[in-house]
Amino acid sequence: MSGLSTRAIHAGELNPAPSGAVVTPIYQSSTFAFEGPDGLAEVTYGRYQNTPNHAVLHARLAALEGAEDALVCATGMAAMTAALMALCARGDRVLAARGLYGGTHALLTEELPRFGIEVDFVDAHDPASWPAAVRPETRVFVVESISNPLCRVCDLPAVAKFCRERGIVSLVDNTFASPVNFAPIAHGFDLVHHSATKYLNGHSDLVAGVLAGRRELMDKAVRVIRRLGASLDAHACFLLERGLKTLVVRVERHNANALRVADFLATHEAVARVHFPGLASHPDHARAKQLLCGFGGMLAFDLRGGADAAERFLNAVRIPAVAPSLGGVETLLSRPCVTSHAMLSREDRAALGIEDGTVRMSVGIEDADDLIADLDQALRA
Ligand SMILES: Cc1ncc(COP(=O)(O)O)c(C=O)c1O
Repeated sequence: MSGLSTRAIHAGELNPAPSGAVVTPIYQSSTFAFEGPDGLAEVTYGRYQNTPNHAVLHARLAALEGAEDALVCATGMAAMTAALMALCARGDRVLAARGLYGGTHALLTEELPRFGIEVDFVDAHDPASWPAAVRPETRVFVVESISNPLCRVCDLPAVAKFCRERGIVSLVDNTFASPVNFAPIAHGFDLVHHSATKYLNGHSDLVAGVLAGRRELMDKAVRVIRRLGASLDAHACFLLERGLKTLVVRVERHNANALRVADFLATHEAVARVHFPGLASHPDHARAKQLLCGFGGMLAFDLRGGADAAERFLNAVRIPAVAPSLGGVETLLSRPCVTSHAMLSREDRAALGIEDGTVRMSVGIEDADDLIADLDQALRA
C-alpha cells in the first residue's frame, strides 16, 4: 500500500477523471438517472450517500484508516449515533470510558436510555475493573484514543483484545489523534470514529463525521445514516476531500508546534500543570511514545489562580481565537468546564482532573515562535 500522504491525495479518485478534472467536481444533484434499463439498478441519491462525491471520500477514508470500508455523514455526533444504533437494540448495553467527549456522554446518558439502551462507565486506565462491568447484554466498548481535554492515552491494544475475547465491538473515537498519529485498525479495533469537523478537514469550515471499519458493521451503519437522514451534502464532501489532501503535512506541523508550546508552558510560573502526552511528566508518556506516531496538536494546562486567571488569560491572547472545537489550522483556546465538559457536574469534572482553571489549546500551524510570544504576554497579564 502506498504511503499515507499519497493515499490522502489520491486514494479512490475517479478514474477516468470526468473531463480530465484533477479534483473531484461537486456533483450538485440530489438524484441521478438509473443506469440500467430495467429500473432495478441501485438508486443513487444524496441521502443514500452514494453519489460520486461520497464514493471518492469513502474509498479515501477507508484507505487512510486501513479499513475495509468507511462512511462520511453530517457530523461527528451523527457518526457516533449511527454506530451505536447499528450495534445496539433495546435491552443492550454500552461499555464506555469515563470522561468521553461531552456530546457522546450526553448521548449515552440522556438519549439512548430513552430507547432502552443503557451505559456502564469504566475507568479506561484500570483494565482490571473492566470484566466486572461486562454483562451478557454488552455490545460495544467506546473509548477515545487521546482523551479530551487531558490527553490521556489508555492501553488501546488491550481494549481491542478485551473486546475480541468477549465478542464485543471495540469502537474508538480517533478525533484527537487523526489517522496520522494513531492507526486503530492496525491495533485491533473494529470501528473507528472521527469528528471530521476537526483534523480530517482541518480548516474549521464544515461539520462532518466519519466511521471506518469492518464491512459487515459499516453496512449496518450506512443503513442507519440513510434512515436518520444524517447525510453529508456534496459541497461539504468536496471541502472535506480538499482538506484531507493536506492532512499529513498539517498534522506533522500541529505535532511539532504543540511540542514547542508544551515545553514553553511547562516552564512558565503562571502554569501549574501541562497535560500533553509528549512531555515526560504526562502520566501516559511512555504508552503514547509506544502507540502514537506523533503526540498530536491538543494540550491542556491548569493556570495558577483558577477560573479568574483563566478568564484574564483568555481576554489577553491576541493570535488564538477563544472558541470551542479544535483541529483547524488556527489556534483555538477554550475552557472545558464551560464548553466540551459543561454537561458534566463540577464534581464529575474534578474526578476526571478538569479544573475551573484548566484551559484547552488546539495548537494551530502558525509560527510556533509567534504563538509562544503571544502566550507569554497573555500569561503575564
Ligand atoms: C472528541 C470528539 N468527538 C466527537 C465530537 C463531535 O463531533 P461534531 O461536533 O462534529 O458532531 C467532538 C466535537 O467537539 C469531539 O471533540
